[in-house]
Amino acid sequence: MNAPLFEKLNTYKDSDVYPFHMPGHKMGRGIDIKDVFAMDITEIDGFDNLHHAEGVIDEAQKMCAKTFGAEESFFIVNGSSSGIIAAIMSICGDGEKIIIARNSHKSVMDGLVLSGANPSYVMPEIVEEYNVFGAVSTEEVEKVCNENPEAKAVIIVSPTFEGIVSDIDSIANIVHQRNMLLIVDSAHGPHMHFNSYFPKTAIECGADIVIESLHKTLPCPTQASVLHISGTRVNRERLKKCLAMVQTSSPSYIFMAAIDKCRDYLDNQGKTDFESYVIRLKKFREDTKELKNLRLMDDSIVGKNNVFDYDLGKLVFFSDSINCIEIGDILRKKYKIELEMSCPTHCIAMTSVSDTQDGFDRLRNAIIDIDKTLDTIEKRKNVSFVFPKPVVKVSPRIAFYSKSTDVCLKDSIGEISAEYVIPYPPGIPLISPGEKITAQIVNTLDKYINDNVNIIGMKNSLLEKISVLM
Ligand SMILES: Cc1ncc(COP(=O)(O)O)c(C=O)c1O
Repeated sequence: MNAPLFEKLNTYKDSDVYPFHMPGHKMGRGIDIKDVFAMDITEIDGFDNLHHAEGVIDEAQKMCAKTFGAEESFFIVNGSSSGIIAAIMSICGDGEKIIIARNSHKSVMDGLVLSGANPSYVMPEIVEEYNVFGAVSTEEVEKVCNENPEAKAVIIVSPTFEGIVSDIDSIANIVHQRNMLLIVDSAHGPHMHFNSYFPKTAIECGADIVIESLHKTLPCPTQASVLHISGTRVNRERLKKCLAMVQTSSPSYIFMAAIDKCRDYLDNQGKTDFESYVIRLKKFREDTKELKNLRLMDDSIVGKNNVFDYDLGKLVFFSDSINCIEIGDILRKKYKIELEMSCPTHCIAMTSVSDTQDGFDRLRNAIIDIDKTLDTIEKRKNVSFVFPKPVVKVSPRIAFYSKSTDVCLKDSIGEISAEYVIPYPPGIPLISPGEKITAQIVNTLDKYINDNVNIIGMKNSLLEKISVLM
């Protein structure tokens, strides 16, 4: 055999590694679908069509809406990215305004290019204790809505990758008073509806469109997502057309069946299994509360820096002095635990209802062990992030289709960027296509480069050049 990807996956599957990463079924532990390929069909008679659902898919989607507390739900087989893009396209046409939280996922920016919409940004607050971006404040949303009364919609992310939740109830009120729609990217929050240990979901709080990646935190395969709708503001027919545009015309019955099966699991076993999951999470947090060097993010941040609530299902470990990439490496090599993400300041273990007690015990023992030996691990510099408010000069769509040229960073002041420049962490664009490059941005970027912050998006590995519009 010479199938490198297949072989590598097989080796990983057969290893003793425990996955504290997505998808939420945890490498088959939480999913029980036998003979998947025997169910891999196309739209044969009697099996409905995702893009004109009126039969069995329609029935399954209606049951899904009921389980998640939405009025209507649509299965998505291309991940939440396509749901986000379709949501934006269904509301904003070329040149129309949309208000966007700056910590949005890349798919939001792709939605701008595809729709032609013009962004105005809401800057999320920095959670000072951890130096990560968190919630957007209701006041800031109100201010930006007042400055842009013609905007069609507001889109924010809640919970964030790290689990930070914004006050969706109040934000929905502000947005609706101005006849705008609220879209919430809840890619990381589909589990929250199933136990009160977790924050209220965006659908429960009155958002119009909520997109959830079931694959991230529920027992569902990668790519399986759902878009939920509530209320009368959404043009549902146009949204359906947009979903059909951005998704394949051959949606996988395996993914759709897996969403349906996951919903059935939640209806029947969800309550009991989520109670056990919450017990495991609480025990993990209790057992690790004496860590000396690492800090596990918890709900003590609620109420500070506009953090409205916190998803305790995310295990986010911070260190003030140690490079957390090292922690990810040690967990992998010594303890056979694979995390979702490690970056210099923190690392994230993604948990789900499908995690076993054995998995939690392994992580707890490893973290306690590592915490004792941290003095021997490579130190890093602490960096404070500064994010100037963007100055949008041309729409992302125009920037995307314009000719560009690469210039030295020091010569780029006053030019319009043709690309993203994203310091990671926190993974939020310092500059996006169509925005003016100011002296403040160049100085900030210079500082990050000197501090060895990982910068995504600049043209060359030496980080000297940036692409600007011609
Ligand atoms: C905040 C956020 N939104 C949206 C997405 C896209 O979700 P999906 O991978 O299901 O397309 C991601 C993916 O990582 C994300 O982190």
